[in-house]
Amino acid sequence: MDNMMPRLPRYYYKILAVLFVVSLFVFKFYSLHSHINKLNKTKTLPGKVDAYQFTHTFIHSAYYYPSSKSLGDNAVALVTTMNKRTVWKITDYKINLIGANQSTSVTRQASVTTEHRLFERCDYLLIMAQSNLLDNMEKLEIEAEGVVVEVPIKKPIYIAPKPVVFCVSPQFAAEQWQTFLVQVHVSKKYGAHLHLYIVSMVESYFNLIREYEKLGLVSIEPWLTIKFPVTDGPYLEPNRNVELRNQAAAHTDCLLMYKESASFVGILDMDDILIPYNANSYYEEFEREYAGDWLISALHYDKYDYKTIKMADLSSQSLSAIVKNAERLNTKDTGKSFLRPERFNSTWSHWSRSAEKQPIYIDEHGQKLEKSLFRKLKTIGTNGMFHLKNMNLRSLEDLKGSKIPLNPTDNATRIISETDLADIDEDMKRMLSLPQISRFATYLPREEFYMPIIFNCYNQSFYHIRDMNQMRPDILCVNAYSCDLPQREDMPCVHSDANYHSGPAMWPITYHFATESYFSRDIGCYQ
Ligand SMILES: *[C@@H]1O[C@H](CO)[C@@H](O)[C@H](O)[C@H]1NC(C)=O
Ligand SMILES: *[C@@H]1O[C@H](CO)[C@@H](O)[C@H](O)[C@H]1NC(C)=O
Ligand SMILES: *[C@@H]1O[C@H](CO)[C@@H](O)[C@H](O)[C@H]1NC(C)=O
Ligand SMILES: *[C@@H]1O[C@H](CO)[C@@H](O)[C@H](O)[C@H]1NC(C)=O
Ligand SMILES: *[C@@H]1O[C@H](CO)[C@@H](O)[C@H](O)[C@H]1NC(C)=O
Repeated sequence: MDNMMPRLPRYYYKILAVLFVVSLFVFKFYSLHSHINKLNKTKTLPGKVDAYQFTHTFIHSAYYYPSSKSLGDNAVALVTTMNKRTVWKITDYKINLIGANQSTSVTRQASVTTEHRLFERCDYLLIMAQSNLLDNMEKLEIEAEGVVVEVPIKKPIYIAPKPVVFCVSPQFAAEQWQTFLVQVHVSKKYGAHLHLYIVSMVESYFNLIREYEKLGLVSIEPWLTIKFPVTDGPYLEPNRNVELRNQAAAHTDCLLMYKESASFVGILDMDDILIPYNANSYYEEFEREYAGDWLISALHYDKYDYKTIKMADLSSQSLSAIVKNAERLNTKDTGKSFLRPERFNSTWSHWSRSAEKQPIYIDEHGQKLEKSLFRKLKTIGTNGMFHLKNMNLRSLEDLKGSKIPLNPTDNATRIISETDLADIDEDMKRMLSLPQISRFATYLPREEFYMPIIFNCYNQSFYHIRDMNQMRPDILCVNAYSCDLPQREDMPCVHSDANYHSGPAMWPITYHFATESYFSRDIGCYQ
């Protein structure tokens, strides 16, 4: 016992030291914890995200879904081009929406999401805002600090013309009508409806598409230049500071339009031709590739570049000639996605960046999962897109090609069968000889004018940077709005237009939108 006595103080010091260290940890933990709590509070308090400047937003469309398979009842989805430098982190921002029906109104906050990465250079982004409002909604308003603006709503398409819909990127200064004929006849053969966005197009080409629209094979939607008609101060020009005229917004608009009715939606460019492999239709191929797997978000097809020919004369159009004279280039382009629209609320031009990040807590049978899962893209290994990268004018007599190119994913099978080629050619011949279509033969452009100008401008703006692997999305906003497009009297163009409206000045965002869109002959071939 005596021996123990002198030791006591030493224990005492040790205990003190331990207590000191523990209290330090506790203090640290508390301060960290309260700091995190504070962070969380500023984030979740409604409307209290600090804004640091006035900005402007263009609303491309505002959909109201009385019922939806994936968005819940009375869902509202807005597709916008918004300046991200409005608040510190734009995805923390909330928009107050007021929905009214005959008897009542509700105010809810809409959360915002984007398909762009926030570190990217472009100041304007595709921003989607979503919420659920009320039955039989007749009026939608956005509110901020007591100021409101009414936004026109539209309903999605509840009966799709076909179970597969291809959403085609906005066309501008478009003149190569041969590409359209390939796309529309291949899509028709394999069961897809084309939904086309048009900014500007040579008039005779546009009239040709109009005839296909009357036959129910395509839908045409004017894609509008973003305009802020009334502002009370300077603002950053949106069209020059957004990725490629915000074509992702057009793709998202199309996805939302067909969300309830199409089984599959494809996101592609006019010159991206998809030919099913080992299937008679797109539907069959997509069903086979999804194989009932509820965790596949989208099917992703690589895009193989080809150079081929085109003929100037409407009556000599032939898919066989285009396919059999196609040569594979040794380049590939970024692939494209085909998706089940209920698994996405928005999309970027090549794939959706949001679907893969969205955790899923409930399995396909509605059972709660122990651990959340993420959806994945499935890259197709047996098929690729036939990308008509270059088409050079030739006369039919000069053509020598006789072989159908090999499927680039196996180098053994062919990209299309002789019988399908013959079927498509026969149908194309029949349709091009219809009087309402053959009458365009003398008007359609016989030579290239805008194509090389646009190619050179794109090359200067970003193609050569991309091809040298120097593309830095944090430094370069991919945009070619400054391309100078000369106009020609003898080549009239139609251009999208609408009645543009500006809401009242609001803090921090003033909203702008358009109604009654149409095609005008008075603007010309501009982006
Ligand atoms: C913020 O709050 C949410 C929900 O209240 C919680 O799940 C999350 O962990 C919190 N975040 C932090 C960093 O504490
Ligand atoms: C789409 O929106 C609905 C309704 O808000 C949500 O439940 C779902 O998770 C969203 N899907 C994706 C892929 O973000
Ligand atoms: C308005 O919405 C409320 C809430 O959804 C609903 O109960 C009511 O029946 C609706 N009124 C009309 C006239 O549809
Ligand atoms: C097909 O051939 C090309 C060119 O010879 C080659 O680059 C590619 O790797 C081959 N692909 C396959 C799947 O064998
Ligand atoms: C694209 O631009 C680069 C750089 O200006 C140039 O070297 C290259 O030749 C151009 N490519 C084509 C196909 O015009």
